[in-house]
Amino acid sequence: DLLPDTALWRPALHYTPPAHWMNDPNGPFFLNGTWHLYYQYNPDGMVWGHTSWGHATSPDLLHWQEQPVALPATRGRDIFSGSVVYDCDNRSGLGTAASPPLLALYTTVFSGDPAHPDGTQAQSVALSLDQGRSFVPHEGNPVLTLHPDSRQFRDPSVIWYAPGKYWVMTTVVADAQVVKLYRSTDLLHWDFLSDFQPSGYRKPGMLWEMPLLIPLPLDGNDHDLRWVMIVSVNPWSIAGGSGVQYFVGHFDGTKFTPDNLPQEGADPAAYRWLDHGADNYAAIRFANAPDQSPRLISWMSNWAYADRLPTSPWRGQMTLPVSLSLRSDHGAITLQQNPAPEYERFAQAHPGRNFTARRLAAGASWHLAMKSGVQDIAVTLKSAGKGKAGLVLRQSADGKEGTRISYDFGTHLLTLDRSHSGKTGFSSNFSLVHIAQLAPRNDTITLHIVVDRNSVELFANGGDLRMTDLIFPQENSNDMTLFATGAPTLVDSLHVADLAP
Ligand code: FRU
Repeated sequence: DLLPDTALWRPALHYTPPAHWMNDPNGPFFLNGTWHLYYQYNPDGMVWGHTSWGHATSPDLLHWQEQPVALPATRGRDIFSGSVVYDCDNRSGLGTAASPPLLALYTTVFSGDPAHPDGTQAQSVALSLDQGRSFVPHEGNPVLTLHPDSRQFRDPSVIWYAPGKYWVMTTVVADAQVVKLYRSTDLLHWDFLSDFQPSGYRKPGMLWEMPLLIPLPLDGNDHDLRWVMIVSVNPWSIAGGSGVQYFVGHFDGTKFTPDNLPQEGADPAAYRWLDHGADNYAAIRFANAPDQSPRLISWMSNWAYADRLPTSPWRGQMTLPVSLSLRSDHGAITLQQNPAPEYERFAQAHPGRNFTARRLAAGASWHLAMKSGVQDIAVTLKSAGKGKAGLVLRQSADGKEGTRISYDFGTHLLTLDRSHSGKTGFSSNFSLVHIAQLAPRNDTITLHIVVDRNSVELFANGGDLRMTDLIFPQENSNDMTLFATGAPTLVDSLHVADLAP
């Protein structure tokens, strides 16, 4: 297992544990000026196992400091994913009014316990009275069990439902592809509300994991609240392997009802995907964020090859935090995702270079040297015909390697090709090309791209489409080339900034 340290791929702006395996983000929240992030962590190895909650903190959501494990696996009890609630009114009674408690709601996986058949998954509560540094399991655990489907019952995520003055928990029975909703007024006693199990995109062996229910105003109108149900699915996602689906609809305090589901058996592209790249899973929301607007963070990996990634001595990293909104356009409602305001502030503090508009003839290219492999790029492209245009990122000096992002103004397909991005052969499941439909806005597309030492995150047309992909480029492959083929293209605006040495 011990490979040489791959420091060249250690991201600058994305969390990685200093060492060992990490998967899902867990229980992220904000309190007293500090962002907290927990995560599925194996403190002992480079592959999944001994699942505990690792912990990191950050003042700005971008620079993280590892902290001691906050909730360790113990004999016969593994700790799976979950969320954290800041119980500010001490409704659980586990803290005091003067010092309200933080409660983790998570899944315990039992083994060797006479009270629970091996492999039972049940929801538990743990209490922190030290601002999230450590959590102590509650004596009454588990607080929610399910029979007979208990072996796949996991991933509690809890939100406060203000109109009803209760909390709502979403969980899954993963292999039944169902989200189960519960309610509670004290976080300890949970009553069943409803199941969300739409007909539609299902495949044999598909797991539903990490369900998340989020209210969002439509087009910024607080009087028109819609609800988004986010579900991670594995495998069979749009880019292969694991990925995240979402549904937009209504929630009446009991039941989530999606609008406009595609016909059963429809192509996966007919469904809504949080991300069209391969490396975005287990998205979760930061609780208690200062302005209450949702920020999501995901595991930037894919179960299809996560345990083969060529990094060392760590394996696993998080995406950038992103902000969410809902936009309607001709009756269709789309989730908009953009880097969180904390990222935008950070990027704006790095002035970078702004270029005036430039016309690229068909077949022409425009080369730019970059100082580092941590870059913020914003580009607006307009084609004079039905050509293709785009850019090659993290390009090697000889031009042979690079990650190619290309938009086809004829077919409206956006492609990210990582087949020449450096190391790719570590797993035959490492998918190389990701393609998504993207409608231009006024014949124009805008791409906002955040490049880190081993990743590309693409936000297109102001948040209409997101694509996240890991890459493993060679040292010093930092340059960039814009290109046009088939028809002339106007590079209407271009901004590039180096964000780190
Ligand atoms: C999702 C998941 C969760 C589970 C955790 C275990 O990636 O499978 O369903 O709680 O990982 O590590």
